[in-house]
Amino acid sequence: MKIQIINGPNLNLLGVREKSIYGNTDFETYLQELRRRYTHIQIDYYQSNVEGEIINKLHEIGFSYNGVVLNAGAYTHTSIAIADAIAAINTPVIEVHISNVYKREEFRHSSMLAASCKGVIAGFGMESYRLAIESLLTD
Ligand code: DQA
Repeated sequence: MKIQIINGPNLNLLGVREKSIYGNTDFETYLQELRRRYTHIQIDYYQSNVEGEIINKLHEIGFSYNGVVLNAGAYTHTSIAIADAIAAINTPVIEVHISNVYKREEFRHSSMLAASCKGVIAGFGMESYRLAIESLLTD
């Protein structure tokens, strides 16, 4: 089983950025925990601050991987192009957010991506990623 995690803009600064919202852990540290827990799964990780690079990654892995866990950051709320890429590929995509976006500013309440995704997980901190993996495993 192969799962691709994709983090979008500003998520390279996890552990540094707005810690009261996103926590103290950097993603690489959390990724090690995930890989230790799911030794039987290949978990690949990609981060980009660039919309087109996220689309290229979705195209690259979206016909061979079993699942994508996507935190598109602020592109979630704006990107028709990423929504189209999700719709274009075969691999199911789970939209994730670390924070509970519905508790935050109104512009974070809408997702351009959710309708093209298999499901959405938000508000569980870093554990949102693990819950997304669980959802792909119990499929
Ligand atoms: C986020 C929520 C987005 O609204 C925000 O732009 C992010 C992170 C989250 O994981 O909570 O960059 O996707």
